[in-house]
Amino acid sequence: MAEKILEVRDVSKCYGGRGKKNHEASMTRALDHVNFYVEQGEYLAIMGPSGSGKSTLLNCIATIDTPTSGRIVVGGKDVTSLRSKDLAQFRREELGFVFQDSNLLDTLTIRENIALALTISHVPAKQIATQVESLAQRLNIETTLDRYPYEVSGGQKQRAAAARAVITKPHLMLADEPTGALDTKSARDLLDAFAFLNSLGTTILMVTHDSTVASYCERIVFIRDGKLWGQMRRGSSDRRSFHSRIVEATTRMEEGDSYDC
Ligand SMILES: Nc1ncnc2c1ncn2[C@@H]1O[C@H](COP(=O)(O)OP(=O)(O)OP(=O)(O)O)[C@@H](O)[C@H]1O
Ligand SMILES: [Mg+2]
Repeated sequence: MAEKILEVRDVSKCYGGRGKKNHEASMTRALDHVNFYVEQGEYLAIMGPSGSGKSTLLNCIATIDTPTSGRIVVGGKDVTSLRSKDLAQFRREELGFVFQDSNLLDTLTIRENIALALTISHVPAKQIATQVESLAQRLNIETTLDRYPYEVSGGQKQRAAAARAVITKPHLMLADEPTGALDTKSARDLLDAFAFLNSLGTTILMVTHDSTVASYCERIVFIRDGKLWGQMRRGSSDRRSFHSRIVEATTRMEEGDSYDC
């Protein structure tokens, strides 16, 4: 069996309930005893209705948020118990993120944005240049490297964000609705970039509500009301029939059926 790169163990997250006492009524249980794991090299989508807890789950894995209970283990490290001084280094070296709106720094060029984590880690400039250029070429953004984020298209920005996310060869790349702001063609280009990065061995965990986007993944984890509703593997299906199975499962989940995919 492949190595487990991520383990989500009995994770719950409650928001609110501040004040003298935790009032159940004023609390939102965004995640409710979620358990699953991801193996090295997998390409996985998390799907679920709006408000079902997808971003909360991703943010807990990304160490941007902390679970109320349960544990999250990334590359053998329990991230829920990391001290704050180790968190920044952990995020920089072991995780890559792609958000819905690329979050590139406007004062840096695309090249500098992609290189940032390597620059912080004092990698020699020559090595940085080689790595950035070869990745940019593969993601088809080499002509944008010396421009600023506001001088490139949304799709190019997202591919630059993907390049920035994987330049350090992280254990895990996390993406929250990365195609959300893109047109169909740019979304396809980004998915091609993800497939390429996955073929190099990058493990990818992507949140999406789009069944077409999800059909590019190998496995889908469905969540509803903060609970794991079910999982589905592509197996030997082609992408179109996997897409039909995803649409069917999503409809059943939204209609309140129990899981038996
Ligand atoms: N910081 C917060 N404080 C209080 N409640 C929150 C907070 N963040 C999220 N929630 C609540 O937790 C629940 C899960 O939210 P989450 O953002 O994880 O949903 P989501 O599945 O990502 O939805 P969407 O598809 O709309 O992005 C929702 O009920 C939301 O209102
Ligand atoms: Mg969300």
